[in-house]
Amino acid sequence: MSEFVIISDDGPVRTVRMNRPEKKNALTMTMYDAMAAGIENAAQNPALRCLLIAGAPTAFCAGNDIGDFLQAAVTGGALGAPILRFLYALARCETPLIAAVQGNAVGVGTTMLMHCDHVVAANNARFSTPFVGLGLVPEAGSSLLAPRLMGQARAFSLLVMGRPMNADEAKAAGLINAVVTPDAVEAEAMNAARAIAALPPQGVLASRQLLRGKPDEIVARIDAEAELFKTRLQSAEARSAFEAFMTRKR
Ligand code: COA
Repeated sequence: MSEFVIISDDGPVRTVRMNRPEKKNALTMTMYDAMAAGIENAAQNPALRCLLIAGAPTAFCAGNDIGDFLQAAVTGGALGAPILRFLYALARCETPLIAAVQGNAVGVGTTMLMHCDHVVAANNARFSTPFVGLGLVPEAGSSLLAPRLMGQARAFSLLVMGRPMNADEAKAAGLINAVVTPDAVEAEAMNAARAIAALPPQGVLASRQLLRGKPDEIVARIDAEAELFKTRLQSAEARSAFEAFMTRKR
């Protein structure tokens, strides 16, 4: 368990909350591990019928901690094992995944949503994946999932050109389901989670499997992206982009 991730169960709904608001919920290795465990463990409790991923009022998630990326770049590291564990947990999760998004969702903050079944966002939400600008490539299976969700043109704009989407654009693109005011996001997401939890669970499981297909294809893409990501992490482009962020003046 990480102090920066809070797992709480309320009846049939488990909330996995990122809680590092002072760093805009940038994810560290311990946070990935804690989130992965929260998702994996849900399968062992049949009373849990929905998972809700949430962040802080000021930020959903600023993506991977860039300090960790810089360290990996310097030491010749790869996408860490906890990151892959978290991504596999998302891809293989059999419990419906809901997300409540406020503020910035950057990098994996956006790509994790592509694994979710229902996403409620605040009208202040902003979705961005600046991978290429950081010298990196898309991850989390997003190179497969984004074109399926939103079509090649919008996926390229988001994932390669790094152009952000606001909440209305994300809804039009099929990334999210609903746009509400910031104070209504969590209640709206919890309502959706409870509504799903109230459905016959075996019917939900079977239908969800039909809609999502087998996770193996997504896991294979996560692995292929991770191979490229490792090479890119060690590139001079990436290292200088990380250093620029860590030493920027504001
Ligand atoms: N890794 C490490 N630290 C991060 C971070 C990240 N991904 N995102 C934010 N932080 C830190 C900032 O360095 C700052 O720390 P400090 O207060 O010790 O200086 C703190 O979080 C607050 O961030 P700040 O930039 O002041 O907040 P903001 O509201 O002005 O902007 C973001 C929020 C998310 C738009 C901006 O922080 C950002 O662009 N972060 C980087 C996102 C990114 O590129 N992630 C990697 C994707 S692959």
